[in-house]
Amino acid sequence: MEIKTVGVLGAGTMGHGIAQILVRSGYKVLLNDVSQQFLDSGAARIAKGLNRDVEKNRLSQEEREQALGRLTTTTRVSDLEAVDFIIEAVTENFDAKVGVLRAVEPHCGPGVIFASNTSSISITRLAAATQRPARVIGLHFFNPVPVMKLVEVVPGLETSAETLETAETLATSAGKSPVRVNDAPGFISNRLLMPMINEAIYCLMEGVADAKGIDDVMKLGMNHPMGPLELADLIGLDVCLDIMKVLYEGFCDSKYRPCPLLEKMVNARRLGRKTGQGFYGYPTSSVRP
Ligand code: CAA
Repeated sequence: MEIKTVGVLGAGTMGHGIAQILVRSGYKVLLNDVSQQFLDSGAARIAKGLNRDVEKNRLSQEEREQALGRLTTTTRVSDLEAVDFIIEAVTENFDAKVGVLRAVEPHCGPGVIFASNTSSISITRLAAATQRPARVIGLHFFNPVPVMKLVEVVPGLETSAETLETAETLATSAGKSPVRVNDAPGFISNRLLMPMINEAIYCLMEGVADAKGIDDVMKLGMNHPMGPLELADLIGLDVCLDIMKVLYEGFCDSKYRPCPLLEKMVNARRLGRKTGQGFYGYPTSSVRP
């Protein structure tokens, strides 16, 4: 199945990053969000990201202009009738994801594949909420999307072999390394990553070390590029909490209990880089888009 035009739903951190690598790889992208303001912000971040590639001599100015020429934005879901493949990257919440998929479905042909960038929600459950369970799959990208090589490719129970093959081909041609992972809470990435982050927050809460000490142990002793608390700030503490809840409820196992300090920080809207305050402070001028 040949894919030429991809609809990306959600122009936030993940959505704009996915759109950026796709237009850079030669795909036309229709970026959809609920407001023109979000779309303009996403498009500006894509233009800035591609500028970086020009500065680093990874892209010519002409290629940058061509890539930007392949990007279109729209607030109208009816415009998505022009796409061959959909990637959903909206809020990490089951009802929100089902809401957008159901809104676009009447405008998409029956052959169009719906991929979700969910980081932990069951693909089988999402697929069952659509009219095309064989054409629903997880394509889980990592932040920052232009930098991280991995995409977890997650077939649900009903996902067809053709859908799986098409999704893997798309990920590969967008410069990513797909890894096939079956549909289980947190897939592989977050089943391993989030308990580590959660445990780091317990260490902080119990006063075992301060935030910098905890992060330094993992950076200097384990060669992690970022410490777990810095990484939690990058991911967003609300997202970390949501994923811990998916693990806790999905496995019914107390070992995944979200740390009370994580809950408290989310309640205080200390969500990390995006709000300027998490385990560390981020002056607005230094917050990276
Ligand atoms: N967007 C785009 N590019 C970015 C970026 C961003 N937000 N942040 C950094 N980069 C790029 C920089 O431009 C630079 O690229 P160049 O080759 O053009 O110079 C490169 O990444 C390295 O950046 P820096 O030198 O500024 O900083 P660094 O060496 O400390 O790297 C990092 C920054 C790439 C973020 C690195 O610290 C890292 O890999 N951290 C771990 C990130 C990680 O684990 N991500 C996964 C999170 S989990 C997830 O996303 C999924 C989920 O379900 C929760």
